[in-house]
Amino acid sequence: MTLQQFINVLRSRWITVCVTALVPILGAVAYTLTQTPLYQASTRLFVSTTAGKSVSDLYSGNRLSLDRVVSYTQLLTGETLAQRTIDRLDLNMNAQTVAARVTAKSKPNTVLIDVGVLDPSPVQARDIANALSDEFVTMVSELETPSRGATPEARVVVEQRASIPGAPVVPNKKRNLALGIALGAMLGVGLALLRDKLDNTIKNPEALEEVAGTGVVGYIPFDKKLATDHSISFDTDNSATAEAFRKLRTNLQFLAVDNPPRLIVVTSSSPSEGKSTTVINIALALAEAEHNVVVVDGDLRRPRLGKYLDLVGSVGFSTILSGGAPLDDVLQKTKFSNLTALTSGPIPPNPSELLGSLAAKKMFSDLRAKFDYVIVDSSPLLAVTDGAILAAEADGAIVAVRAGKTKRDQLAHGIGMLRDVDAKLLGAVLTMLPTRGSGSYSYNYYYYGGSYGDDKRDESSATS
Ligand SMILES: Nc1ncnc2c1ncn2[C@@H]1O[C@H](COP(=O)(O)OP(=O)(O)O)[C@@H](O)[C@H]1O
Ligand SMILES: [Mg+2]
Repeated sequence: MTLQQFINVLRSRWITVCVTALVPILGAVAYTLTQTPLYQASTRLFVSTTAGKSVSDLYSGNRLSLDRVVSYTQLLTGETLAQRTIDRLDLNMNAQTVAARVTAKSKPNTVLIDVGVLDPSPVQARDIANALSDEFVTMVSELETPSRGATPEARVVVEQRASIPGAPVVPNKKRNLALGIALGAMLGVGLALLRDKLDNTIKNPEALEEVAGTGVVGYIPFDKKLATDHSISFDTDNSATAEAFRKLRTNLQFLAVDNPPRLIVVTSSSPSEGKSTTVINIALALAEAEHNVVVVDGDLRRPRLGKYLDLVGSVGFSTILSGGAPLDDVLQKTKFSNLTALTSGPIPPNPSELLGSLAAKKMFSDLRAKFDYVIVDSSPLLAVTDGAILAAEADGAIVAVRAGKTKRDQLAHGIGMLRDVDAKLLGAVLTMLPTRGSGSYSYNYYYYGGSYGDDKRDESSATS
């Protein structure tokens, strides 16, 4: 994975990262808030041994002190001293608890011992630290005196007494929060990478081309306005979405220059991949270029064109196929110039049969004679055979693939169905591309050749 890919994964999955990271961070905060604050009081002890007068005596005396320091730190944290301290202060605690709160540390090659005592009360922390140190001085003098009345071999002095600590040392807010953040960041990034690895949806043109085995002829960004309006007013609209459909129009016209496809079916493997929206707006883009275009609702199960274009749905495709009315009577003018529509008509019980009938063939050849382009909407391929039947009838099929939603195996399966009926695959359209994150449209648009040169070409074809 390159750094760029890594950044893209984080950008597109920032919600996963943030939500996951929040768990350990909140955990750290909760832990910090529920911990009883502990104060630490410290004293410092100085260890010396009774040394002779000569230089070598001084030296060995010093060595002896250093050796003592190591054993003393052990004694300081022991339960014997803790019990003596408890007795001295008349504390209502047991030796184990007190001993566990005592720390004794010495720096190497020094005869100083730093003693720390933790306690929920700052005053008691100080009192215990002082009493413990005094008790230790006594204890050492007892231990180091070989026989009654003799001079002790080593002694300890409390060099620095404890004072009342100002701020608690536990909980360590900064450390807990830092740990929470570090753990959160690791978990968040890890989960984002894992989810990316497990995600088998199609998110970019490379994956689409690899699975579909055909070129990508259009990149349609996710557009809130399009989601509610369903159609673009090409004469006034210069949005990125309008440009995307103009580019798709250009690509279609250049697919087979000598014999350009005129009867085109738009299909997809699953529902809600943007088929109907693509049908309407390819048709409008072609109509903008002064072509006479008809859209046909070949989705006889969940027809949408009538609704999307504000038309009457009572008569249409199925009416003609059942011989209910001639073609001219059911074609409807739309509010857009150069665009005619044939809605689905009443939903028939046997759509696949009707679509494969001779009546359907005849209707398509009539439409071909009347219009420059016939753009046909269809049902999803994985649900029913309708889409494949229509695609076989047409000059070619365009497959709509919803970015980040259509799964690789779904697309492969759908494409397989088109290949089974020998339909000509014109190309794939990546729809509803996110405008932010790794599948970002702006990134794709510039990266995949939405250059000014292409626009010029597009314009010349628009006026031809
Ligand atoms: N480019 C787009 N940006 C935003 N929403 C879209 C886009 N294309 C389609 N939609 C919305 O997605 C939903 C499904 O689109 P539709 O064209 O009806 O898909 P299909 O015909 O494949 O079922 C509709 O609500 C539509 O408005
Ligand atoms: Mg549809």
